[in-house]
Amino acid sequence: MAAIIETKGLTKRFKSVTAVKDLTLTVEEGAIYGFVGPNGAGKTTTMHILTTLLTPTAGEAWVAGYSVTKQSRDVRRVIGYMPDFFGVYDDMKVWEYLDFFAACYDIPEAERPALIRDLLDLVDLSHRADDMVDTLSRGMKQRLCLARTLAHDPQVLILDEPASGLDPRARIEIRELLVELANMGKTIFFSSHILADVAEICTDIGIIEAGELIMQGNVEEMQRQLIPHREIVIALLDEVERARETLFGVEGVVAVEEMEPDNGRLRLHVSLTGDDEAVSDLLRRLVQAGVPVIHFTEETRDLESVFMRATKGIVS
Ligand SMILES: Nc1ncnc2c1ncn2[C@@H]1O[C@H](COP(=O)(O)OP(=O)(O)OP(=O)(O)O)[C@@H](O)[C@H]1O
Ligand SMILES: [Mg+2]
Repeated sequence: MAAIIETKGLTKRFKSVTAVKDLTLTVEEGAIYGFVGPNGAGKTTTMHILTTLLTPTAGEAWVAGYSVTKQSRDVRRVIGYMPDFFGVYDDMKVWEYLDFFAACYDIPEAERPALIRDLLDLVDLSHRADDMVDTLSRGMKQRLCLARTLAHDPQVLILDEPASGLDPRARIEIRELLVELANMGKTIFFSSHILADVAEICTDIGIIEAGELIMQGNVEEMQRQLIPHREIVIALLDEVERARETLFGVEGVVAVEEMEPDNGRLRLHVSLTGDDEAVSDLLRRLVQAGVPVIHFTEETRDLESVFMRATKGIVS
C-alpha cells in the first residue's frame, strides 16, 4: 500500500504557541484514518497545512505525492476539505448550493444536474433538493457540506470534526457515509476529539496531544500489540480444581486466575493466545472434562480501553 498523505517533521508556530510539533504521520491509500486529540491539540492546524491554507514553519507534507508548499494547486485538486465551521449560504436552495460549488470546480453546466442528483442521493438529501438550505437540520447541513466536498470527485477527503454537534443518530449516519465513501475508493482523514466516535469505523488512528503525535498505527495491529492475550471469564457451579487442571492442559493458555465470585458464582479468568478455534476448543475441553460451566465470555478488546492503557488517560 502506498502512502497518500505524508508529513515529515511538520511544525507550526503561532508567535508563542507551537500548535504542531515535529509531526510525522502517514496515511495509506484507502484508509479511514481517525485523527484524535483533545481541544487545542493541533488537529485543525495540521489539516490547514494539508489543505494548503497555512504554510508550515518547518517540515513538509505531501498529499498524493504533491508537496503542500510547492504544488498547492495540485494538492487542492485531489482533496475534498470539510472545515470545522462552514458558512452556509442561507438564501439558496439545496441544489443551488451544490450547483454553486460544482461551478467553482469548473464542472461544465451540462454535467451538473446529474452530478447534483448523484451527490444528493449519496448523502440522502434528494427529498430536500428544492428546500432552502437554512431549513435543514444541523445533521442535514453537515451531510450537504460533505456532498459539496465531493463535487470534483477528490481522491482524498480531509474532514475536520464531521460529526461534531450532532445527535447520536446523525453521528451514526455520518459514520455510515464515511464508510460508504471509503468503499468507493476514497481515502478519509478525519478528526474528532472523541475516541469512541472514530474507533468503530477507522482502519488507522493517530493520537495528537499538545501538537505531538503520541501514537499512530493500524487499529488491528495496535489491538494485538497492546493486548496480546485474549481474556476469557468462565463462571462455574463448582469443580474449580478440575477446571484449572483442564485449562492448563490446553495449548495457548498462559494464565488462570481465580476471580472474586460474582453473585456467589465461582469465576476463573483465563489468558490465552490463539484464534477463535482455540477459544472454542477451550470450552469444549471444559465440557468434556465434566466441568459445570454456567457462563463463558470473552472480555472485549474495545479500542477505547486499549488506548486508555496506551495513553494513560490523556484522551477522553
Ligand atoms: N491563528 C492562530 N493564531 C494563534 N494561535 C493559534 C492559531 N490557530 C491555532 N492556534 C493555537 O494552536 C493550538 C492548536 O489549535 P488547533 O485549532 O489546531 O487545535 P484542534 O486540535 O483543532 O482543537 P479543537 O478540538 O478545539 O478544534 C491551540 O493552542 C490554538 O490556540
Ligand atoms: Mg479543530
